[in-house]
Amino acid sequence: MYQTARHLAVAVAHLNGLLPRPEFVLCTGDLVDGGGDAEYVILADILGQLTMPFYLIPGNHDDRAAMRQAFPAHDYLAGHDGFMQYTIEAWEPRLIALDTLIPGEAGGRLCPQRLDWLRERLGEQPNRPTIIFMHHPPFRTGLAIMDNMGLADTAGLAGIVRRHGQVEAVLAGHVHRFITRRFAGTVAMTAPGPAHQIALDLGVAARLSLIMEPPAGLVHQWLGGEDGLVSHVSYTGGCYQALTVFKDGQWLGETPVLTPAIPLA
Ligand SMILES: [Fe+2]
Repeated sequence: MYQTARHLAVAVAHLNGLLPRPEFVLCTGDLVDGGGDAEYVILADILGQLTMPFYLIPGNHDDRAAMRQAFPAHDYLAGHDGFMQYTIEAWEPRLIALDTLIPGEAGGRLCPQRLDWLRERLGEQPNRPTIIFMHHPPFRTGLAIMDNMGLADTAGLAGIVRRHGQVEAVLAGHVHRFITRRFAGTVAMTAPGPAHQIALDLGVAARLSLIMEPPAGLVHQWLGGEDGLVSHVSYTGGCYQALTVFKDGQWLGETPVLTPAIPLA
């Protein structure tokens, strides 16, 4: 309906074209729709075009076994105790991936086993800036339909994060639009979708409304020190066709934006 594979290919081209090029990409779950092997073959082909490392976590639409099969080179997907939880130590900040998936359910959960693992990982390097990423956001969004399929029992996670001041941000997906909130002494946010968005429908009716607002992702820049992590929305869908540039008060001209527009079927 929304040509999500085509939009993802456009997003990949967009990320590859950013200057400076992102060091890595976090894919925050719901990587495919039905969790079938054939979908992951398509996904692997598209994400394989990224010119930088990328890291995956499952969403409620995903299947752990199928993910591992489709991305055999991604050793970290072996996870811990069956959950796709892992740390990536190669970058600053440190990355900690959480797995909120409950197979067969739309909502998510971090059981005591998963939370214990997080507590241990955060305790390992308490002074190293750290980003946590997960699929279900750890806060209510006001979008009733999404909150009805949100993360159960957020208090356990909040209690751990609050005791670890090195957590610069908690990044999530699931909601298909950018939402941010203070959470447990840090900042939490959701990424917009690379294809359709969930409509900004703050009414009480628990209906699911999708809208073709501009596809986008988040670009995070680590400035370090007191400046910390700065997060930007980056539109990926070719909605803006020209870049107008000024320097030292002088107009330098317009250049085409390289991101290709999504082809209409
Ligand atoms: Fe989801």
